[in-house]
Amino acid sequence: MTMIAGYDHFVQLAETLQWDETDIDYTADRAAWPRLSATEQATVRGLIAGFCIAETSVAGQLGSYQAAARDESMEATFRAQARDEARHARFFDLVAAEVLGVPGPNPAQRQDVLRGSVSTELVDLFEHRLPATARRLADDHAALTGAVGLYHMVIEGVVLLAGQQAMLDTLDGLSADLPGLRKGMELVLRDERWHIGFGSRVVQSAAVDREEADALLEQGETAAKVWGDLISADAIETAVRQHRRRLKAAGIKFW
Ligand SMILES: [Fe+2]
Ligand SMILES: [Fe+2]
Repeated sequence: MTMIAGYDHFVQLAETLQWDETDIDYTADRAAWPRLSATEQATVRGLIAGFCIAETSVAGQLGSYQAAARDESMEATFRAQARDEARHARFFDLVAAEVLGVPGPNPAQRQDVLRGSVSTELVDLFEHRLPATARRLADDHAALTGAVGLYHMVIEGVVLLAGQQAMLDTLDGLSADLPGLRKGMELVLRDERWHIGFGSRVVQSAAVDREEADALLEQGETAAKVWGDLISADAIETAVRQHRRRLKAAGIKFW
């Protein structure tokens, strides 16, 4: 009933896309930060706060996905993805500490400071709902499709992609340039594209019933709003439209 799906090409792709957050030069960013207006700083800080919380959470959940993988190549792909997500978490924490000047001796304490800059819905999604899904997956490997649906299609495909796009748009309009942050954002986005492509393949090769399909669509529509005012209504609408298109392309029917 499931298609034989080889995921090795994702692992090979990930290998060619490796980068190191400490190779990026943040000197110009540090100089530009104090010159930004309070409003500009608040927007960048809110988005960075969301990414710090999100990437730390997603990086920590992939172990359960690896354990539930249907074959070795899928397992290796989750592992390659976990390496990317850990790097993303380090990158956003580095920007928070070095450019934004968020105080704290370690990433966890900087996140405590940043938590006040995002909605409780965002914190809840990443620190409660996603971990709960991963825990259920650890008990029941058959829940893999729904868990990938939440992680890869909803969280990465809607919430993170919309946030990353909003950050690039914000960077375009700033009164002073943040080239290091822009460089890293582009590299993060490049990684996220293959993660979403991988998740789509996992969902595509599974049978998704009507209830699961409706849940995926509905979760996407709700999740897109966790950024609150940090993302425009237009950007949210675009993200949800792309989500619906991606689900359809993965062979999910809507009744
Ligand atoms: Fe990521
Ligand atoms: Fe990702």
